[in-house]
Amino acid sequence: MTVDEVIAQPTVETASIVVFMYVEPVARPMATYRLTILPGDGTGPEVIVEAEKLLAIIEQYTELAFEKTTIPCGGKHWLDTGEEWPEGSFEHCRDNSDAILLGAIGWPGARLPNGDLAGGQVILGLRSGLDLYANVRPIKLYEGVRHKIHDEFTQVWKPSKVDMLVLRENTEGLYHSLLRRSALRAQGLEEKEDPKLEFDGLTGELAWDPRPISRKGSERLIRMGFEYSRRRNGSPGDGISRVTCVDKSNVTRGCQLFRQVFRELGAGYPEIRGEEAYIDAFTMWMVRNPEWFDVVVTTNMFGDIVTDLGSVLQGGMGMAASANIGDVHGLFEPVHGSSPKHAGKNVVNPIATLNSVQLMIEWLGMQHSDDVALRVSDLIEQAITEHLGEGNLLTYDLGGTASTSQVGSAICERLANLLTKTSETIH
Ligand code: IPM
Ligand code: MN
Repeated sequence: MTVDEVIAQPTVETASIVVFMYVEPVARPMATYRLTILPGDGTGPEVIVEAEKLLAIIEQYTELAFEKTTIPCGGKHWLDTGEEWPEGSFEHCRDNSDAILLGAIGWPGARLPNGDLAGGQVILGLRSGLDLYANVRPIKLYEGVRHKIHDEFTQVWKPSKVDMLVLRENTEGLYHSLLRRSALRAQGLEEKEDPKLEFDGLTGELAWDPRPISRKGSERLIRMGFEYSRRRNGSPGDGISRVTCVDKSNVTRGCQLFRQVFRELGAGYPEIRGEEAYIDAFTMWMVRNPEWFDVVVTTNMFGDIVTDLGSVLQGGMGMAASANIGDVHGLFEPVHGSSPKHAGKNVVNPIATLNSVQLMIEWLGMQHSDDVALRVSDLIEQAITEHLGEGNLLTYDLGGTASTSQVGSAICERLANLLTKTSETIH
């Protein structure tokens, strides 16, 4: 099936086919944003349902409007149909979307003949092909969220002491080869394999992954880190604005370049404290003293790993939201993945996805200088904060028994109330 056929399906809302070109942000009083929705595998479709409910509330109570195109995709879709998503989907995301919302990718046993993750051209192909160089992952603990440790729920970390933003480089590092293969595949182009290399002292069967780190790739990510820190309130512990460079520059050359670029750029931000940490020690500090950290910049695989660890501080993977952003495009997704064992049960926590929608609306607001979108994004955050603060309806991962849809509906209702109260100021 091609993406045009998907669009033509009666169950799917149609999108106007307009080539999206980057324009300098201008104020848009009546914004209609073109959203491409990729539900994906496992629990992805279930959390996307809750995201769509939230979008419907926003449309109902504000002047914001969305033209949505939903595209089936993922590893399961590949097993069922032989394709990771319909032909033309990449181009649709590139040319006809103001933002992309993804559920999750990954299904047991779904591997392409070359061993790559089936569905990879969706998530990794978009990250690389749309140059989404920053994976922005907030680690924030809300009041009312307890931590699941030893299968019990306890308040280990304090909400006032956990509020950091991790920026993971998203287009190079250890993921580079797979990212490029996925992007080429997504565009129907011929895939390149890494050149064969000999490794001194190693014989027999061998597999390896290159880890290229470029000056340009490091610069743009690290600069974004300093810019984010400027707009934030500093570290929760002492209010000092900090950017921490997390690397392994005592061992790897790529990290040496990354740290060097960090120092060079840091000199241009005298008001922000630049600090450096090796990844191994950082994992210990982030657990013991999360209040020390404001913005963290790191390379691709380290960022992947520390944000799963970081999710423990915020109440688990069900709370971890993310934004994959470049200069032009943005893709928003919960960090938790497809969680096949929970799929179809209506039990997973939709808050990571609702928070990802919040990041998406905020990003659209910034890209388009749209004050309404910015206000709405604040109110989504407020609705989630109030919901968790009250602590009545929680999914199993937070110690409750509520379903995915109950939590989603409760937050939607709260948002609707907030929007009604502020409707004079928001229109
Ligand atoms: C994530 C995921 C992905 C990654 C997988 C699904 C390829 O773990 O977004 O963190 O490793 O980046
Ligand atoms: Mn991950």
